[in-house]
Amino acid sequence: MSRKIKKAIFPIAGLGSRFLPATKVLPKEMLIILDKPILEWAVIEAANSGIEEMIFVTSSKKNSIIEHFDRSIQLESLLKKKRKKEQLRLIQSQNSLGKFTYVLQDEPKGLGHAVWCAKRFIENDENFAVILPDDIILSKKPVIKQLIDISIKTDGGSVLGLEKVPKKEVFKYGVINPHKKINNYYSIKNLIEKPNPSIAPSNLTVVGRYILHSKIFDELEKKKKGYGNEIQLTDSLLTLVKEPGLYGFEFEGDRFDCGSKLGFVEANINFGLADKNIKNKLKEKLRDL
Ligand code: G1P
Repeated sequence: MSRKIKKAIFPIAGLGSRFLPATKVLPKEMLIILDKPILEWAVIEAANSGIEEMIFVTSSKKNSIIEHFDRSIQLESLLKKKRKKEQLRLIQSQNSLGKFTYVLQDEPKGLGHAVWCAKRFIENDENFAVILPDDIILSKKPVIKQLIDISIKTDGGSVLGLEKVPKKEVFKYGVINPHKKINNYYSIKNLIEKPNPSIAPSNLTVVGRYILHSKIFDELEKKKKGYGNEIQLTDSLLTLVKEPGLYGFEFEGDRFDCGSKLGFVEANINFGLADKNIKNKLKEKLRDL
């Protein structure tokens, strides 16, 4: 299994109720971090990791996402006419982010179900990425690329992005039970979705970045319900432990949970501090607070 990892599934059908009223009409993935929608940052991470096909598992209420990633010939010619070169470059750079495919998730039946909805786009014996855009990560090397490199090292293993959190926080995440640490990554023997801290096997939690083998669809197909009476991706990951192997990697980078107000504001500040045009002024403003 050494085929290049070319596809990423983005489960983005969720309601975004934590951001109402902003998300009454606007999909939560279209909320802006600095100068781009949250989803575009996730797509850029994928494209910079060598992913060529972005598969959005979405809902019919989120048409602005399709419009955003579609080429706008009209806007391009208007910008050309007005000689707005920089803006034109920005718009045109979107066209090279990859091929976009859309599939509808008719009901919110859980993350496992959302990934299953994209089954027909993934071939047998193919590794692919899953990216949850609620988690936005600032890093030198794109996190998906970091995970792909571990997948290559483990001869095509499935790899989860991991982060250590304080034990009392583990109830918000999928948590791994590590088998052993091999160099800078872990082999995984078990996982639990959103455990009570008192029974959590570790404080190593799964963030929204996965490299998975197509074999997972056989398990997702069974549509077993787990935590919250939903079909959980975490529960199906177990099927990958034996073959092709399931690993976890504490990625390099700062993660912001843009599904929460605090994480969203933090992301905006940190992306601002990483932008050479505004970072000095922003620092001054923050110091003055
Ligand atoms: C999902 C996954 C969970 C993971 C988390 C990362 O949960 O089910 O295992 O730890 O994303 O953000 P959600 O945040 O969608 O409830």
